[in-house]
Amino acid sequence: MSFVKTDVQGAHNKIAGEGGSVETTRILMSTPDIGELEEEYVLSAMRSGWVAPLGPDVDRFEEEVAVRVGAHHAVALSSGTAGLHLGLLGVGVKPGDLVVTASMTFAATANAITYTGATPVFVDCDLSTGNIDPNVLSEAVIDLMRLGKRPAAIVPVDLLGKTVDYTMVCRLAKELRIPVIADAAESLGATHKNIAAGSWGDASVFSFNGNKIMTTSGGGMITTDDGALAAKVRYLATQARQPASHYEHTEIGYNYRLSNLLAALGRAQLTRLDEMIAARRAHRNTYRETVSQFEGVEIFGGEDDSQDNCWLTAIIIDPKASHRTATELQDALNRADIESRPLWKPMHLQPVFKNHRSYLNGSSQYLFENGLTLPSGSNLSSRSIGRVVDVLDAFFAESLK
Ligand SMILES: Cc1ncc(COP(=O)(O)O)c(C=O)c1O
Repeated sequence: MSFVKTDVQGAHNKIAGEGGSVETTRILMSTPDIGELEEEYVLSAMRSGWVAPLGPDVDRFEEEVAVRVGAHHAVALSSGTAGLHLGLLGVGVKPGDLVVTASMTFAATANAITYTGATPVFVDCDLSTGNIDPNVLSEAVIDLMRLGKRPAAIVPVDLLGKTVDYTMVCRLAKELRIPVIADAAESLGATHKNIAAGSWGDASVFSFNGNKIMTTSGGGMITTDDGALAAKVRYLATQARQPASHYEHTEIGYNYRLSNLLAALGRAQLTRLDEMIAARRAHRNTYRETVSQFEGVEIFGGEDDSQDNCWLTAIIIDPKASHRTATELQDALNRADIESRPLWKPMHLQPVFKNHRSYLNGSSQYLFENGLTLPSGSNLSSRSIGRVVDVLDAFFAESLK
């Protein structure tokens, strides 16, 4: 049997097959951490005959994620983007509406808003976390209401696995009776005030794509305490099929459900979630130790990451204090065959959204220009992390000369 072994990476990145093995040296940022347990779960689902589309692994996966995050309901979907789309439809967002979201995010958040026919309005972030700045959010919502454009929903985003200040965001939303769909695509396993990501707002959305803290290869989940909202999402995700044997349809639906095989993979991964978070946290601590000796360089998100899932570790480089730039570091890492990436390019700077209304404080642009995400996968070997650390050491030590 051919098996892609992902628990060794970088210098040992090995694809083993009957004909031998291929070694590659590039250290990637975050790849699926898959092993024999995942193989067993998927094989067992396949042998059970429940191949597609739905099946008992989907039901169990939904129950297990709901229990993990403390939500009453969970609906497994084909992607996080699908979850955002249906969550917004579920709370009544419609063409012509405005939806307020973070500028500092991946395009999927804003794209999903446009699928409903609504228009995203972007709000800048807090410099220390990259998450939506609750004060700017409040100013934005009040300004929109003054203009007679009451937002139909707020979509905060948990950046790189650190949760939004939900206390502030949910208080504002509750006061103004605006629904919150939390984009928790990156934050499964994280908490805010010890309450799990996925249990905030009217509903939350996780992604299980290949680079996330756990994966179903591609997939997502919406979690909520609102039974009617969960039922609506489930119905819309299965082509809005009315319960008639001839498939009666009274509105437009979508083909957004997760397959049983992928749910089986997700179930195996969920049993390993804490172990995978611990591995990512250990990488972050190693990086923190390394950069702490250099002025003007810090690990993004602050000292206290006890509530984060440490999905991706990023560093922020102050060019004035460090005499180095994020671009120069990316070049140095690239030369050593190590992947890194700037933080998300803010939506208000993206050509496709540049004419959208935005409420800015300069933070997201600063983070984009001076931040870099580092290899963070839970399957990275200590040898691979050692290679990254060597480059960081040499790169910043150079500026001290
Ligand atoms: C912040 C954020 N929102 C939404 C998504 C979309 O998730 P998916 O790729 O599962 O559609 C992602 C990940 O890709 C993401 O990082």
